[in-house]
Amino acid sequence: MKTDKPTTNVPGIKQQQLDLLKSKNEEAMQGGGKARIAAQHGKGKLTARERLALLLDEGSFQELDKLVVHRGRDFGIEREKYPGDGVVTGFGRVAGRLVYVFSQDFTVFGGSLSETHAEKICKIMDLAMKNGAPVIGLNDSGGARIQEGVSSLGGYADIFYRNTLASGVIPQISAIMGPCAGGAVYSPAITDFILMVEHTSYMFVTGPNVVKTVTQEQVSSEELGGASAHSAKSGVTHFACVNEAACIASIKQLLSYMPQNCEEEAPRLPYTGGQSEIREVLDGIIPENPNQPYDMREVVAGIADEGSFMEVHRDFAENIVVGFARLAGRSIGVVGNQPAVLAGVLDIKSSLKAARFVRFCDCFNIPLVVLVDVPGFLPGTDQEWNGIISNGAKLLYAFSEATVPRVTVITRKAYGGAYDVMNSKHIGADLNFAWPSAEIAVMGAKGASEIIFKKQIAEAEDPEAKLAEKIDEFTRKFANPYAAAERGFIDEVILPRDTRHRLIRAFSMLENKVDNLPKKKHGNIPL
Ligand code: HXC
Repeated sequence: MKTDKPTTNVPGIKQQQLDLLKSKNEEAMQGGGKARIAAQHGKGKLTARERLALLLDEGSFQELDKLVVHRGRDFGIEREKYPGDGVVTGFGRVAGRLVYVFSQDFTVFGGSLSETHAEKICKIMDLAMKNGAPVIGLNDSGGARIQEGVSSLGGYADIFYRNTLASGVIPQISAIMGPCAGGAVYSPAITDFILMVEHTSYMFVTGPNVVKTVTQEQVSSEELGGASAHSAKSGVTHFACVNEAACIASIKQLLSYMPQNCEEEAPRLPYTGGQSEIREVLDGIIPENPNQPYDMREVVAGIADEGSFMEVHRDFAENIVVGFARLAGRSIGVVGNQPAVLAGVLDIKSSLKAARFVRFCDCFNIPLVVLVDVPGFLPGTDQEWNGIISNGAKLLYAFSEATVPRVTVITRKAYGGAYDVMNSKHIGADLNFAWPSAEIAVMGAKGASEIIFKKQIAEAEDPEAKLAEKIDEFTRKFANPYAAAERGFIDEVILPRDTRHRLIRAFSMLENKVDNLPKKKHGNIPL
């Protein structure tokens, strides 16, 4: 990292004073010392300062509290002090934009959090809130500084409290680049996005030893709380990154879609337009057989600016796709059912995944595009007993309260309650388009016919033929977008190729949208 040039002769400052300043700064730069830095490298990990050097624009870092030391007095720790106390904090720039950062230094008491370590983090969080810029935390810590006891626990709580107050005001991003255990996991959990590095980071409330004692399960740290567990199974992390450099590159990319705070808009890339916005490739995506899957990511690619899609939560609840993209240079949030996985059905995990994403976009003024191909909610005891009702309601709630511009495109199925939930006109979508292949109905033609024509089918000479006849009748009447278009629930039935053009025009029209929720302290989302 670029540092200030060593100064050897400054008029008015005594040589002794200069030497003292220099030695203190140098000591701080060494963290826990050469041997521990070598051990850190030996594990395939970068140091706290090396990570910041990768993250921040060159020469932009202003460190704060470099000389802070802990106030511990027990177990001999009073004789072992390191300037900075295990965390490097300050502010700098990413692509020219202000960010506040903390980077835990595992070489100092394993990056453990003391009272002063927490105070340093709180200081930059307070500055970030006052000045309206994101906070990025690079976590690599053995948790509470054991020698400090309750002072350390208090320090954690001071951070959790600030994470909560900052939620929805400034973006907060957590990268997990080493251990993150015990109650320490709750600070990242409150932030907007978590990134983990594969094989060198883990998160859990209790580690493998406690798990073994309590549940008799034998599990490794990696299996229990590594990047793949949390990206695919729990959904705790939004991104699993192959290494630290990739993790930091993802943080930078993520930031590029976000505004600095909830009062601002995300930066726009220059977009000249001018060329044809017609994308014929979209015409060929929907298969002829309505039960055949396709990849909704192809639709996203066909709509968005080329190469602009950054998928969030890629490996979790894959039956829904969420992520950021750009449309004519403008940042948008995309939510799309994924017919390629479980036919795109909504279940508990996909509802949670999408609801959280929608709420992030709404907090930070990022317009939403919603792509719908959903056969309904997933039936079964597992879903019902685990609360598909209240979890599905979260997505309904999230869309309903979102005041950002919201545009829906129904590509194929929009059945039952899932039609309502997926950003329908009725819950406040601004514009709703449908492709000619759209089927907007209470349920699929076969299931519907079997219920409403049950008697006629049973009494028919040839029940099979009767069923086929009724399916055909139902399909003609309801398995299309026109009943909805006749009522104005769909604003226009469009050709797939015209979708991008329509969306660009829609968001341009919605540029100055003002929509206020009724005055309240806060809503009561069904948590
Ligand atoms: C003080 C700690 C420490 C801690 C590690 N160190 N964790 N010092 N408090 N919590 C120190 C070690 O003494 C060692 O010092 C150095 O950091 C590196 O630790 P190692 O054990 O040598 O490293 P490694 O083998 O990589 O193991 C890392 C580790 C392990 C898995 C994190 O250190 C560990 O289990 N630490 C304790 C974790 C823990 O139980 N924390 C409390 C969790 S509860 P030297 O001088 O040798 O370099 C919690 C509650 C938070 O955090 C509640 C919030 C509400």
